[in-house]
Amino acid sequence: MNLGVIVLAAGKSTRMKTAFPKVLHRLAGKPMIEYVLEAVQSLSSLPPVIVVGYQGDEVKKAIGERAQFAFQEPQLGTAHAVLQAQPLLEGKVDAVLITYADMPLITRQTLLNLYNLQQHNPGPLSLLTLQSENTRGFGRLLRDPNGRVQAIVEEAVASPEQLAIHELNVGIYCVQADWLWKALPRITLSPKGEYFLTDIVELAVRDGFEVKTLTLADPAEAIGINQRVHLAEAESILRQRINTHWMLEGVTLLDPQSTYIEAEVILGQDTVIYPNTYLLGKSVIGKGCTLGPNTIVRDSEIGAGCQIFFSVVEKAILEEDVDVGPYAHLRKGAHLAKGVHMGNFGEVKNSYLGPGTKMGHFSYIGDATIGEGVNIGAGTITCNYDGEKKNPTEIGEGVFIGSDTMLVAPVKVGKGARTGAGAVVTKDIPPYSLAVGVPARVIRKLKEGDG
Ligand code: UD1
Ligand code: CA
Repeated sequence: MNLGVIVLAAGKSTRMKTAFPKVLHRLAGKPMIEYVLEAVQSLSSLPPVIVVGYQGDEVKKAIGERAQFAFQEPQLGTAHAVLQAQPLLEGKVDAVLITYADMPLITRQTLLNLYNLQQHNPGPLSLLTLQSENTRGFGRLLRDPNGRVQAIVEEAVASPEQLAIHELNVGIYCVQADWLWKALPRITLSPKGEYFLTDIVELAVRDGFEVKTLTLADPAEAIGINQRVHLAEAESILRQRINTHWMLEGVTLLDPQSTYIEAEVILGQDTVIYPNTYLLGKSVIGKGCTLGPNTIVRDSEIGAGCQIFFSVVEKAILEEDVDVGPYAHLRKGAHLAKGVHMGNFGEVKNSYLGPGTKMGHFSYIGDATIGEGVNIGAGTITCNYDGEKKNPTEIGEGVFIGSDTMLVAPVKVGKGARTGAGAVVTKDIPPYSLAVGVPARVIRKLKEGDG
């Protein structure tokens, strides 16, 4: 059986009060529509059809080739939305799965279960239901005394008896394709001025079929995002899912409540995360690291055995056994080789620090290449910006940079050289030389191994 997927995303989402498309609002670092695309991805060999309307071009731009797009204008209801997808799927699929872009917590497993139910259904329609006291404005399922589904009644038009029903329509359906294309034109305009997709239930019953239902085991999956409070609710559930996943993979979270791991982050076993830590973007964290408390890591690669304490790390690479913080700031292009120590109040940008290099206190290193085993004294600054452009600094292996040295770039400090405290280095220093003063002058040669 060939399945087609339709994702409805044309609604105007007035209640969100937003200047950009609701379905591009982020949850755990990813636009909410991405969760739905991920959940449906492996179910069908065809790209899903996303029905867009209001600000549809922006949604299309964000998703690109990964989906097909149907435009619904004006938005005349959920059945009318599905109708817009028909030309893209008709003749190509045997069954259609219909879901919503603003229901990001629905799992792939739930959709697969619904699809499997429909594959064994002699009738044309299976749908997802929910048992809950919290009715969220959802449509109610009407059943006959034998328990057979009869219809769905929308909350707005339900009678008091119908409102008391707690079996709710999630709004996700798996439908036999040929039957669906014939059923859609039979749906009549509701008093509200919309074509309700929910009417297909009554149509199937009228055609003499039994409608099958699958009840959600976890009601949280059906949380739809219509406003910011729902967004926060979904964020919190996703965070729990992500944190639980990593704990089951062998990561220790001292306080899951205050640990924020975005969806695309990868973590190694035996890593320990202290409270108030944010692991964001496409970060990859190795095994046996200690992160936090109060630490932010974004889009960075952290090797095994690193320690990051009270620090901010963005677009940086840390090899193994690097220790950073407290109060360190690693910025774009910082690359700390194995065993680097970077202590308090340091900043590194677009620079390589060789293996075992130490930078203990109050330093700024920008646009520099630093060799192995270098000691960077307290208060060292690369003066990399001359007011027009950024200039490079090169420091050879085994160099000892004295406290409070200013390295006025472009400048090179040769292997094994030393600078005195307070030196302002404006010219290259040859290898194994000691330079002191303002501006720094070489006052003597050093023997190899002196440093
Ligand atoms: C719909 C169901 C209701 C169900 C609820 C669950 C109908 C008539 N009712 O309610 O039984 O309990 O979902 O969430 O289907 N959309 C379009 N084009 C439109 C209208 C809607 O693409 O013309 C999209 C929206 O962007 C949204 C989804 O369809 O993603 C559902 O629309 P919404 O208005 O939130 O649902 P209801 O119609 O209230
Ligand atoms: Ca509505």
